[in-house]
Amino acid sequence: MSEPSLSEGLATTRSIRNYTDEPVTEAALARILHLATRAPSGSNRQPFRFIVLRDGPVALRVRQLLADGAREVWDAKRATNEFPDRAKDTPTSRMLASMDAYVANLATAPVIVLPCMIRYRDPVVTEGASIYPAVQNLLLGARAVGLGGALTMFHQFRDAEIREALAIPDEAFIAATITIGHPRGSHGPVRRKPLDQVVFEEAWGSAPAWAVDPPGTRFTGGPRPA
Ligand SMILES: Cc1cc2nc3c(=O)[nH]c(=O)nc-3n(C[C@H](O)[C@H](O)[C@H](O)COP(=O)(O)O)c2cc1C
Repeated sequence: MSEPSLSEGLATTRSIRNYTDEPVTEAALARILHLATRAPSGSNRQPFRFIVLRDGPVALRVRQLLADGAREVWDAKRATNEFPDRAKDTPTSRMLASMDAYVANLATAPVIVLPCMIRYRDPVVTEGASIYPAVQNLLLGARAVGLGGALTMFHQFRDAEIREALAIPDEAFIAATITIGHPRGSHGPVRRKPLDQVVFEEAWGSAPAWAVDPPGTRFTGGPRPA
């Protein structure tokens, strides 16, 4: 399978939460992580580190911690009836159904990667700027080699136990939990808000006339009002 062009990859890298049993090779992992580490960071400090969870004893334990935390939080969310539309067949209800299955199968996802960042100063709101470009590169890198991934914050619910299990030093924090595998299903154009709702010029809320998505763009919230 040929790699997508850069712009195609950017426009069609969906969250992939369902995977086939095909293993992720070490060569693919090395390629994806190489691409992730090409990301920019402040002063090129490269404070990102990536912990890969496969099938070692510690990995299995951390997988279970992640799965337990995710299930606890997801069950609590479901119980609040926060998503009243889930019975209807909508993109949101489909996303929620895929979340249900995703959480149930989290412990056995083909590979899980925990991108971490080494803090080099006291926490500031912008510190994520030196890790999340690498996180997105990782997802795009997975797409490039025919894999798919999903980004979550599931580590938050068992952070202390996971840090201890993996001997993560105090100065580092886990920035994301990413599952990776061969997609069951496919990538395709992502749905987002129309450009004129998110691009402003001269003043907040003032959309420039040139802020127009290309023909065929798919939007969140159904068809675009005329
Ligand atoms: C900060 C952040 C947290 C997210 N948390 C979750 C999550 O807990 N579970 C999940 O399945 N997806 C999670 N996602 C993925 C988003 O749901 C997904 O990117 C979004 O719905 C758009 O769908 P798409 O990536 O398929 O275009 C998260 C994404 C981000 C950036």
